[in-house]
Amino acid sequence: MSTTVDKSGPRVRDMFGEIAGRYDFLNHLLSLNIDRYWRWRTVRIVPPAPGAKILDLCTGTGDLALAYHRAAGGKAQIIGADFCYQMLDIARQKAAKAGAGQSITFIEADAQQVPLDDNRFEIVCAAFGLRNVADTDAGLAEMTRVCAPGGQVAVLEFSTPDRQPFKFIYSWYFRHVLPRIGQLFSRSAAGAYNYLPASVGEFPQGEQLAARMRAAGLTDVTHRGLTLGIATLYVGTKRPEIRGQ
Ligand SMILES: C[S@@+](CC[C@H](N)C(=O)[O-])C[C@H]1O[C@@H](n2cnc3c(N)ncnc32)[C@H](O)[C@@H]1O
Repeated sequence: MSTTVDKSGPRVRDMFGEIAGRYDFLNHLLSLNIDRYWRWRTVRIVPPAPGAKILDLCTGTGDLALAYHRAAGGKAQIIGADFCYQMLDIARQKAAKAGAGQSITFIEADAQQVPLDDNRFEIVCAAFGLRNVADTDAGLAEMTRVCAPGGQVAVLEFSTPDRQPFKFIYSWYFRHVLPRIGQLFSRSAAGAYNYLPASVGEFPQGEQLAARMRAAGLTDVTHRGLTLGIATLYVGTKRPEIRGQ
């Protein structure tokens, strides 16, 4: 797929490093707090078993990892991975404050080359992260590789609503209002809040992303729109190992 948005690692890492301190505030403001609901839905649609091993890739400030910690009653073993240390610093502080310091470990890692063993996690997830990874297929391949046979891969990502008149109203907000508010509060030199609609606009969605997940080796891939299609949750299963053959 041809791409015009610059998603080179250093650019994306610097951009998130620059806005890390304002990231949570702006996330909740610009989504009117609906982002919390999307992560809440994710952990309910892909629930953790007691003691589950979970990897949250592109964890950022750790909100999905923390949602899984709460959903598992503190009993999951969670790794949050991201290549931006400024985001991870905030994630670590939030986990310590939430009493999750023992059950969540944060590591600095690129989603395209995850330094973790094959077949290790029952749940591998990424919220609003995969879109930023330079090579989507490499990210999906890594998510699938580290997922245990029979485990689930969940991708929560922005999408474009397809029903009028909401599509028109939301597109106007997303392209014209959100970047201005984001820029005002973040003062991002890298234009992080112009990057957001641009990157969503060219990222595969719906069946297109589902097909890429199947190509990565996942089965039973489903996708469901959340909040009139502003976000979509994609879920796939790694084929269980067939023994005795
Ligand atoms: C929009 S934030 C999402 C953070 C968090 N998952 C959430 O739900 O709010 C995207 C995150 O992906 C990270 N990221 C982007 N590309 C990455 C890559 N190739 N490897 C690891 N992390 C990456 C960024 O550093 C950033 O923290």
